[in-house]
Amino acid sequence: MEKSFVMVKPDGVQRELVGEIIGRFEKKGVKVIGLKLMVISEELARKHYAVHEGKSFFEELIKFITSGPVVAMVMEGEGVIGVIRKMVGATKPGDADPGTIRGDFVLDAGQNIIHASDSKENAEREIDLFFAKEEIIEYSLAVRPWIYSLPKID
Ligand code: GTP
Ligand code: MG
Repeated sequence: MEKSFVMVKPDGVQRELVGEIIGRFEKKGVKVIGLKLMVISEELARKHYAVHEGKSFFEELIKFITSGPVVAMVMEGEGVIGVIRKMVGATKPGDADPGTIRGDFVLDAGQNIIHASDSKENAEREIDLFFAKEEIIEYSLAVRPWIYSLPKID
């Protein structure tokens, strides 16, 4: 089944929003299959955000994302990459709809409490960057038949 890389950024941890954020995904039916509290090294930060290298905010972004602990997660579910991006909300504070995580908790373009993969390719790349194979736990949730009417395929 589809997997996404999700991270509560240092501001989300400092603002004690980890439980709130994970709770939203749990309630949606998204399954957490990898989770760790960690401080990102500068090297990892530069790899993770390589696509933004050279942009005006890049150095500020690297400083911010390495400034304190983050909660790195792998989440699984049907169409979970798109679903999570919708639940996260737009990058520009004025564009993030109420009801989304950024719409409800963020006023800043940089400090926006959460990252989520934006494509299958990036999800695979980011999961590989942050997690060793053995840190991802495949297991069944007892509520599964109440979340999916689909036959079990994973
Ligand atoms: P991520 O999930 O973190 O990748 O956010 P995103 O996909 O919604 O946005 P994008 O990939 O375009 O930018 C990556 C991150 O860079 C954003 O989440 C912000 O933290 C930061 N960022 C983007 N634009 C700006 C900006 O104009 N100013 C500052 N300071 N930071 C920015
Ligand atoms: Mg992005």
